[in-house]
Amino acid sequence: MSYNIAVDGPAGAGKSTIARRVAKKLGFVYVDTGAMFRAIGLYFIRQGIDAEKQDVISRDCGKADVSIVYEGGEQQVLLNGENVNGLIRTEEAGRMASVVAKNPQVRKTLANLQKKLAQSTDVIMDGRDIGTTVLPQADLKVYLTASVEERAKRRYLELIERGEKADLGQIEQDIIARDEQDMNREISPLKKAEDAIEVDCSDMSIDEVTSRIIELFEQVKK
Ligand code: DC
Repeated sequence: MSYNIAVDGPAGAGKSTIARRVAKKLGFVYVDTGAMFRAIGLYFIRQGIDAEKQDVISRDCGKADVSIVYEGGEQQVLLNGENVNGLIRTEEAGRMASVVAKNPQVRKTLANLQKKLAQSTDVIMDGRDIGTTVLPQADLKVYLTASVEERAKRRYLELIERGEKADLGQIEQDIIARDEQDMNREISPLKKAEDAIEVDCSDMSIDEVTSRIIELFEQVKK
């Protein structure tokens, strides 16, 4: 039997930072599902496909084969065998990921892969529909959120730290647009599962959120 922790929430809430830390502390595997949608987004960016052409996305998504390997404990996403981990963290890939994520075929294929990864391994998996759709039987479901202003500020500082240009107002607009798209799509929209525990981390440090999730897991651990 394996333990599954699901972490869902809007863009920029800190899901990946927190999930990665919790995974290290508990000895779990961290599964970043956004990276899988980003890899498919990258495929269509490279094909020069207009983001809203859902018919083309349905027709061609089978050509974007996504798989996962682990190197030194870190998830690597392969797109048709190519390691694209270093190419999917851009705003453009994030926006395109949110568009391809509306597509039913893309969601079905990736959900199957995600379910398989969690079957026989202790995992903490983050995304938008993990607690509601992918791992409805998860031992612990966390809905991690923070205010739009705080999420934009964190993203801004992350970009500046990486030496990239950033416009706080633009980032805030992008976050609002992504929330809107992820929360209002027809299939598996982002929403808090009924049995998820909401953690608003607007005023919490990374260490505080990590400890809180470990504490919640200790309470449900059999
Ligand atoms: O978590 P992220 O920013 O890397 O995710 C990129 C996009 O992928 C996000 O805006 C919506 C989509 N996504 C999704 O629909 N379902 C998931 N489980 C994970 C991500």
